[in-house]
Amino acid sequence: MLILALVVWVTGASSGIGEELAYQLSKIGALLAISARREDELERVKKKCLQISNLGEKDILVLRLDLTDRSSHEAATNSVLKHFGKIDVLVNNGGRSQRSLFVDTNLDVYSAIMELNYLGTISLTKHVLNHMIQRKKGKVVTVSSVMGIMGAPLASGYCASKHALQGFFNSLRTELTDYPEISIINICPGPVQSKIIQNVFTENLAKSIENSGDQSHKMPTDRCVRLTLVSTANDLKEAWISDHPYLAVCYLWQYAPTWAWWLMNRMGKRRIQNFKSGVDADASYSRKKK
Ligand SMILES: NC(=O)c1ccc[n+]([C@@H]2O[C@H](COP(=O)([O-])OP(=O)(O)OC[C@H]3O[C@@H](n4cnc5c(N)ncnc54)[C@H](OP(=O)(O)O)[C@@H]3O)[C@@H](O)[C@H]2O)c1
Repeated sequence: MLILALVVWVTGASSGIGEELAYQLSKIGALLAISARREDELERVKKKCLQISNLGEKDILVLRLDLTDRSSHEAATNSVLKHFGKIDVLVNNGGRSQRSLFVDTNLDVYSAIMELNYLGTISLTKHVLNHMIQRKKGKVVTVSSVMGIMGAPLASGYCASKHALQGFFNSLRTELTDYPEISIINICPGPVQSKIIQNVFTENLAKSIENSGDQSHKMPTDRCVRLTLVSTANDLKEAWISDHPYLAVCYLWQYAPTWAWWLMNRMGKRRIQNFKSGVDADASYSRKKK
């Protein structure tokens, strides 16, 4: 029996969740296109994929991609199609978070966050979806966030971009009812170990964060990715992937918003105080690893 391997295109594959997705996908034999801006980091990821899997050199395509350069997205899609002949799964993972108060933040930052997290993602999706519609099959997996469900201080632009993604993909799904084999899957992780804090947007585009903090309270990257792949295999429309207490807050936000706002105001106040005093904004939730 001939089994054709799935072709999966992962954006933001040079670090964090996207990097781990590349490792776990390569181990199960998926053919990979891995994208981000830093080609040297993608080559490092490819090298490790080749070491831990049975894939060969041509089974992994390193494709430099800047999500904010929307004019390049059609050519990038064509490159993946030329190399593999099809795209079964697009994982929209590339993105950046935010650590700054709205009152202190330049509006350029809000524009950049939406350009990257929202417009960049839907632009790439548009090109890949044309191909999936022709084939009448495919999966579009988008790494949103629990911040796409709730609101939180110091991340108003990030939350807005993830809410935009949630609204967009939930609407797109309703436009694809004639294509039952095209799945739109929204993944909503809580805090996960990655480089996300080192790379956050701050008050202005030139400033980077001084204190990226400790990651011990966050979900290990491999667990988040495993649950993402299980959700993808099962075509879940939305998956909340988080440990408590963040997961409990999601349920509160969904089913008892008045309590959620009360709790969020208390937690948020502490978060802002930590941030203003220069310690990790999430220091209160951090715990020592056992
Ligand atoms: N970690 C968490 O706690 C968490 C929670 C919920 C959701 N998420 C989401 O998970 C996704 C991955 O984040 P992560 O946590 O793995 O963070 P990360 O380690 O900082 O990785 C972010 C990835 O996005 C890429 N990227 C950034 N700007 C880009 C651009 N302009 N064009 C193309 N790629 C770009 C980066 O690559 P280059 O710099 O090489 O371009 C990198 O590969 C993001 O969408 C994030 O919002 C993360």
